Amino acid sequence: MDHSIALVTGATSGLGYAAARLLAAAGCREVIVTGRSLARIQETAAQLAAETKRQVFTPLALDLNAPASVQSALAEIVMRGRPIDLLLLNAGMVPGKARVLTAAGVEQAQAPLIGHHQLTIGLLRANLLSPNARIVIAGAEPARGGVPMFSYTDVPAFAAKYFRGDRTAAIEALIRNGPNVKYVPNNTYADAKLIIAWWVAALARRLPPGMAAYAVSPGGATATKVVRNAGPALKYLFIPIVNLIPGMNQTPETAAGRYIQASAFGTDVSGQFFASAKGKFSGPIEVQRQPHLYDHASQEAAWQAVVKVSGVDLSSPASLSAAS
Ligand SMILES: NC(=O)c1ccc[n+]([C@@H]2O[C@H](COP(=O)([O-])OP(=O)(O)OC[C@H]3O[C@@H](n4cnc5c(N)ncnc54)[C@H](OP(=O)(O)O)[C@@H]3O)[C@@H](O)[C@H]2O)c1
Repeated sequence: MDHSIALVTGATSGLGYAAARLLAAAGCREVIVTGRSLARIQETAAQLAAETKRQVFTPLALDLNAPASVQSALAEIVMRGRPIDLLLLNAGMVPGKARVLTAAGVEQAQAPLIGHHQLTIGLLRANLLSPNARIVIAGAEPARGGVPMFSYTDVPAFAAKYFRGDRTAAIEALIRNGPNVKYVPNNTYADAKLIIAWWVAALARRLPPGMAAYAVSPGGATATKVVRNAGPALKYLFIPIVNLIPGMNQTPETAAGRYIQASAFGTDVSGQFFASAKGKFSGPIEVQRQPHLYDHASQEAAWQAVVKVSGVDLSSPASLSAAS
């Protein structure tokens, strides 16, 4: 990490904050930290500098729900002109009981991916990722299945039932939470993280040869604010019970350490999803091998759905302003 420039989204709390600290300790020469509002992220940057005694934190306003905010953040990075070595796309959330859509009609747990896509493509187009850049995006174990209370949608079956087999349309419906989608908060979260795993595989195929991208689950770290909006069954029953089982929870620093670990992985494992071993939420990370994660048609459909919702593609000349 020595002399690298990193950008961490969602750094105002939890794992983003912990990752920013770790990156400074690892010798990064600059850590750009983002938060929805400039005032709040300025406070965060000052707090990080005081805690770490390193003046390496640059605050940047970035609301991933708002294309105009992504565009302003990109303009700022372009103005500074220094390529980013590690793009840590950490921001995300477990949604609450009430369904919330952004102004662009995207369900709020799905929205960070849309903003992260706009940011990533904007940086690639501006040539502001270094030739060996690493892109790490936050995944979660529910994307592989087998997590109680969280089920992902069987996209091929869902597409066949409601969209004449069109998986892009089916995934767009999941991102927008309709049509034909029943809002179940935990399942929406599982779907959001599955779409991330597919998106990263499709992104990896489109990156220049030296770059790599991975989806990485930080694992269980319930001391963060990740379930602040979640229902009582998850907050007051499932998590406290799971936390009683040894090895199912870890500190935010340990969880954020997984992102840093993955940022040193090679191009040979680009596009893969790393998470805890089966049945665990902590411990070492490993490549996830469930067949649905490797479904090429779903990976490409996820990419196309995100392109459609975000209005931004790598190959098209459309500018971000088209999506705002
Ligand atoms: N903690 C866990 O057990 C766990 C397990 C698996 C995966 N994860 C993933 O790890 C990531 C970090 O979660 P955390 O535990 O650190 O939660 P957290 O404490 O709630 O932090 C989430 C961060 O993301 C930001 N954020 C969320 N939506 C955003 C948006 N639309 N635009 C801009 N910023 C946004 C939040 O900003 P605001 O404060 O302004 O909302 C906050 O800074 C998430 O992607 C989560 O899904 C966490």
